[in-house]
Amino acid sequence: MNSPPQGFQGYFKTGTEQEDAELTHVGPGTPCGEYMRRYWQPVAMSEELGELPLAVRLLGEDLVLYRDGSGNLGLLHRHCAHRGASLEYGIIAECGIICCYHGWHYANDGTLISAGSEAPDSPIHGRVVQGAYPVHEHNDIIFAYLGPPDAIPAFPVYDTEFMPDTERKTFSITTPCNWLQVYENTQDPIHVLHLHARSSGVQFGVASGVDQIIEYQETPLGMMNIQTRHVGEHVWTRTTDSILPNGNQTGAIWEEAEEAKSMQRCSILRWMVPVDDTTTRTIGWRFFNKRLDPRGQDNPELVGKESIDFIGQTADERSYEEAQRQPGDYEAQVSQRPIAIHALENRASSDAGVARLRRLIRQNIRHLSAGHDPHRPDFRGLPFISTYCQDTVVQWPGGEASTEDDLRAHGRRVAKAVLDSDHLEPQPRERFVEDEVTDKP
Ligand code: FES
Ligand SMILES: [Fe+2]
Repeated sequence: MNSPPQGFQGYFKTGTEQEDAELTHVGPGTPCGEYMRRYWQPVAMSEELGELPLAVRLLGEDLVLYRDGSGNLGLLHRHCAHRGASLEYGIIAECGIICCYHGWHYANDGTLISAGSEAPDSPIHGRVVQGAYPVHEHNDIIFAYLGPPDAIPAFPVYDTEFMPDTERKTFSITTPCNWLQVYENTQDPIHVLHLHARSSGVQFGVASGVDQIIEYQETPLGMMNIQTRHVGEHVWTRTTDSILPNGNQTGAIWEEAEEAKSMQRCSILRWMVPVDDTTTRTIGWRFFNKRLDPRGQDNPELVGKESIDFIGQTADERSYEEAQRQPGDYEAQVSQRPIAIHALENRASSDAGVARLRRLIRQNIRHLSAGHDPHRPDFRGLPFISTYCQDTVVQWPGGEASTEDDLRAHGRRVAKAVLDSDHLEPQPRERFVEDEVTDKP
């Protein structure tokens, strides 16, 4: 057997390894940037857009977003096609926007309506077009499509947006690091046990700090992790969605698994949006209902721009010392470097989810680079796309006396029921899962 490495090796570990550009660089023409550009991406919350143009960045591009006098949205390249003045200083018109510098007037699709002092028959009108992208406003989030116009996908709407008796709040959080380290955190469930239950005290539900069996499974939308654990007399199985390329759904924040239930859906649907290679904006909805939060621990008032109602997600919520004493996801992710360098990592068995997610993303990037169409979610005849994030809790026969294999088998059974029922409407789907995972006499 090899002896373990000796200590004091700092001098030998100052390598110059580079980031994994294929997965982390998102600018125009990069492989991952092209992949991201095949999907609708959130670009802003509706509430951010007032009467003035809004300078935004998405996938390394400088853009300007505005709502014109007719109420229609425009998303244009920020620098005017004439001589480059920023359209963030533009004058919003009844239709489109007028550059402040020489009055060139653009429609929301970027076509030139008039070129300031140029004669109406000037050839410039037949030649110039400002870069523009389609936008779609949905439930207080403005989404943009930055890909080739002939490959624009149907706008995706997900089943969890239709949970009954549910309040919804939009949020947006900026994290100064690469998108992938924010995204892959959601397929790293072991960190919940360490970061959120041990290193920093209990930051979420107490039950989330209980040891668990973790497995991973691909889904039609990407992948999910399957977390199964004993909580008292119950066994709780949580599945967490990665909706590729950069969407995520997560279950109830404060879940305590105290009573039997099946297919309890998610408390967050969000996208980890690459602003550029070293800035990520997580934009999404936080969902509130009695089922997800029986104890009233959620706080919708704290949810909004650069703010959410659980600890450790944003830059300014605490002092540096407080963040050092009780670090959260923000500190862990940002401190992995502006772009985490995979070549310097020593991945272990508990990184299986992160490794699998990276592999899936890489496969999809190469699939597209090889000239194939990107994978599109299937509506299966339903009015929405079925997703796979849920919590199911069962009363466990025999209390806590069960083996790891029993738990693993149960977790697989729940995951299979969740997958097998994705053609059903929510209520029959919930009954299907309940039937499949409850032991009948
Ligand atoms: S720079 Fe915009 S009109 Fe001249
Ligand atoms: Fe976390």
